[in-house]
Amino acid sequence: MKIGILTGGGDCPGLNAVIRAVVKKAAYYNYEVIGIKDGWKGLIEVNTVPLDTQVVSGILPRGGTVLGTSRTNPFKSPDTSEKVVNNIKKLGLDVLIAVGGDDTLGVAAKLFEQGIKTIGVPKTIDNDLFGTDFTFGFDTAISIVTEALDRLHTTTEAHHRAMVVEVMGRHAGWIATYGGLAGGADLILIPEKPFEIEEVCDIVKKRAQTGRGFSIIVVAEGAVPKGIEGYITKDVKRDAFGHVMLGGIGEFLAKEIEKKTGVESRHVILGHLQRGGSPTAYDRILACRYGVRAVELINEGKFGRMVALQGNKIVDIPLEVGVKQTKTVDMEVYKIAEVFFG
Ligand code: F6P
Repeated sequence: MKIGILTGGGDCPGLNAVIRAVVKKAAYYNYEVIGIKDGWKGLIEVNTVPLDTQVVSGILPRGGTVLGTSRTNPFKSPDTSEKVVNNIKKLGLDVLIAVGGDDTLGVAAKLFEQGIKTIGVPKTIDNDLFGTDFTFGFDTAISIVTEALDRLHTTTEAHHRAMVVEVMGRHAGWIATYGGLAGGADLILIPEKPFEIEEVCDIVKKRAQTGRGFSIIVVAEGAVPKGIEGYITKDVKRDAFGHVMLGGIGEFLAKEIEKKTGVESRHVILGHLQRGGSPTAYDRILACRYGVRAVELINEGKFGRMVALQGNKIVDIPLEVGVKQTKTVDMEVYKIAEVFFG
């Protein structure tokens, strides 16, 4: 059995832990593993690296991905999608493990429809993949946000300011909700709930007059004020999957707050800090469980599946179910965070 593995889309702490787990479990079954470099790009250009237990030794705690990644979409043209199918055959791959978010796994699902045996491992710090309670990388991201909020509290309080903290979360506000709850945010704004700027300003004013005199507002990059179509961004650049580059809502909001309340305001974009560095213990364990289960599925002859966490069990679901819709924030958790607003 010859297994190909690739990591696609935005990187995420825990990718190396998955690669290591796949290689180690594959060795147990005597399967060969080939690493594909830079996501789907490596299958268009045939850029691969042999993987064995020696090669993956020591990579468990490392952030990023030893295979590299890209946001290449082979289905952007029939020419590149054909190349991918042909190169999978040329390389003699019996099965391909794709580790990625909805875009990368969407490609894996399409390839499966075309007769290529694929398995998906769900990855995104945004935690917005359907059918799995958690994706690895999310726990690391919210730990980073929590630490940042702790630090921002002291400086924001000292200056009696309003601090708007922009976090990742394009379609869903998981990082904002969990990070904001853990870090004691005074308000959390998420894509699922368009907000009124006046209401945000009321909270800031009230806290400036009667509270501790400062406010910490966490905003997901995909959050928008009511009545605005699309996103508030600084850039109009799009990636190969057509996603516009986000970033800008934090600055916009900080300016609005200062203008409308007179409270001195600042913004911070946590950006790629949320994706960098070593995964937490939780993410390492989840990544190991996903990687091992992916190879077990191959051994059981189950393809076109995505490994997933449901409750505390690793299960598998059809790939097309995992990518068909976005998993938005659990409003029960958001309501708990709301208790601490204001
Ligand atoms: O992986 C998803 C994500 O974290 C989004 O929240 C964010 O918009 C995007 O990545 C940004 O990634 P990049 O700058 O690598 O395109």
